[in-house]
Amino acid sequence: MSDPKKHIRPEVRAIDGYHLTAYDCPVKLNQNESPFDVPDELKDVILEKVRAQAWSRYPEPMPSDLVDAVASFVGVQPEQVLVANGSNSIVQHTLNAIVSKRVRVAIPSPSFSLYGQFTEILGGDPVYVPLTNQYGYDIDALTQASTSGVSAVIICSPNNPTGCDISNEALEDLLSATNAIVIIDEAYAEFSDHTALDLLADHSNLIVLKTLSKAFGAAGIRIGCLIASPDLVGQVHKIKLPFDINLFSRIAAIELLQHRGIINQNVAYILKERDRVYDALTEMDGVTPYPSKANLILFEVEDPGMVFEQLAEKGVLIRNVSKYPRLEKGLRVCIGTGQENDAFLTGMRSILE
Ligand SMILES: Cc1ncc(COP(=O)(O)O)c(C=O)c1O
Repeated sequence: MSDPKKHIRPEVRAIDGYHLTAYDCPVKLNQNESPFDVPDELKDVILEKVRAQAWSRYPEPMPSDLVDAVASFVGVQPEQVLVANGSNSIVQHTLNAIVSKRVRVAIPSPSFSLYGQFTEILGGDPVYVPLTNQYGYDIDALTQASTSGVSAVIICSPNNPTGCDISNEALEDLLSATNAIVIIDEAYAEFSDHTALDLLADHSNLIVLKTLSKAFGAAGIRIGCLIASPDLVGQVHKIKLPFDINLFSRIAAIELLQHRGIINQNVAYILKERDRVYDALTEMDGVTPYPSKANLILFEVEDPGMVFEQLAEKGVLIRNVSKYPRLEKGLRVCIGTGQENDAFLTGMRSILE
């Protein structure tokens, strides 16, 4: 019998896919999640509302009440918002709407690996733009790549896994210089001091992506949003599957968006802890941390594999990013509670001493 895999597109066969090995560690600082769960009282309200709905019915193809809640949270018109089952899937839908064979997409490197992977699956060509030596965005190189016939540029700001960001001044110049669609993935923007949303009114080629998975502490409900001009929203909308947001996630997201106070309080805590962890890492011999605008810190050590494994043995799980381009010595830790961060720092000190 012939191998049925021969019918799978070569672009799919060629890639390795996204893998995350499961480790059983009590301190989990490997996925840039929030250490703060949704408060129990809020969970009760959400569950009551979910119970009151008819589970036998399809949800709306595009839940208008959630779209309205996002629009009012970020201060745009509902026509500028698309919501979907996680911002990962929005990256996929957006690229699906843009990329076909040989279409070029500028992507800084290293950055979130799914951008390049989705581009390749669609037969497109990622044009990787290296970060600077200090892992910041190289604005000249990005501008050059963005004006060299690419159809899209995807910039993660702040960046996963390095924590660097692009200022609105630099982004505005880039948006004006290029005819490409510029996608800014703001999964971590709540931890930084600015948002590209402020540039939307003047730039019809801008798409901003948001998620409830990080600062909002709701990775489990899988809600992401795209914010752009109504024209671009309409195009990506055609690609998105209808009914992809289940009633539980819709209700939970609406409730969370009404509790900005909790989010702000949690973000303030994380920012304080981020400074403390960064300062502590700078004082360790053999460790080079990089400044971050996100809830994560990239740092370099001589033997990242050894440090990663020994931390895991001590019950602290971080992310080994040493396979990312140029990050041969790289590890990434996300900021947890004070106690979790102490467990990480204590583990680091005992491994390195
Ligand atoms: C840059 C970036 N974008 C998107 C995501 C995924 O977001 P979501 O949980 O909304 O799919 C992540 C998750 O780690 C991320 O780092």
